[in-house]
Amino acid sequence: MQDLRNIVILTGAGISAESGIATFRGPGGLWEGHRVEDVCTPEALAADPELVHRFYDLRRAALAGVEPNAAHHALARLDAAWPGELLIVTQNVDDLHERAGATRMLHMHGELRSALCAVCGAREPWAGSLPEGAICGACGSAALRPDIVFFGEMPYQMERIEAALAQADLFVSIGTSGAVYPAAGFVQTAAYHGAATLELNLDPSMGSVFFEETRIGAAGVLVPAWVNEVLGR
Ligand code: APR
Ligand code: ZN
Repeated sequence: MQDLRNIVILTGAGISAESGIATFRGPGGLWEGHRVEDVCTPEALAADPELVHRFYDLRRAALAGVEPNAAHHALARLDAAWPGELLIVTQNVDDLHERAGATRMLHMHGELRSALCAVCGAREPWAGSLPEGAICGACGSAALRPDIVFFGEMPYQMERIEAALAQADLFVSIGTSGAVYPAAGFVQTAAYHGAATLELNLDPSMGSVFFEETRIGAAGVLVPAWVNEVLGR
């Protein structure tokens, strides 16, 4: 492996699949007959807040019953041991990376366990029930919403992500279909800046064509093996 210092890792729903969290576009990718794309939108929140809140309350409740899997633990081990720069960018809104111990990470699509005030932008832990008129602790507005990036909204921390991609020596994508931008374009940005690119996924993805190497298999098997490789173990 070339002189490897800076690693950027993108994770998607596939890294949490072995923990029992359904992916979006695999079998069972619908929810109550709705396409996810129809529920996770500002319009849906305005038109039917109860439906949208129920969708997230159910997903949040499901978190209590799942655990990080071997892939999350392997990335946390890499995070703790890696001497260079490392950033885990997750598209997932679950907290499994954190619960495995990852620290150098960010949620570009938001987090189930966080509420966002649509008026002042303050964030607070989601109390865990439908926030009828949930009042923002910072400004008092009844404007709390799920701290989730809806379709059509700008993902979080894009400047930080783009800066990391520009410095990366290696970009690794784990468990994502490459169906949603801007995340699906990160491999091309990293490659443009000279990074090596590796995809670890259960199936070939829409982005596979852009990767130097694609390894097909379950994240729970491929990720620990790859981390051992990188740590020279
Ligand atoms: N190990 C590795 N990869 C897996 C596994 C597994 N056990 N199970 C499924 N996968 C792969 C699938 O092959 C698929 O390519 O994970 C990918 C999941 O793709 P999606 O369901 O499209 O999820 P994701 O790519 O994270 O979606 C991106 O779309 O719906 C929006 O905001 C939502 O963050 C999400 C974004
Ligand atoms: Zn507020």
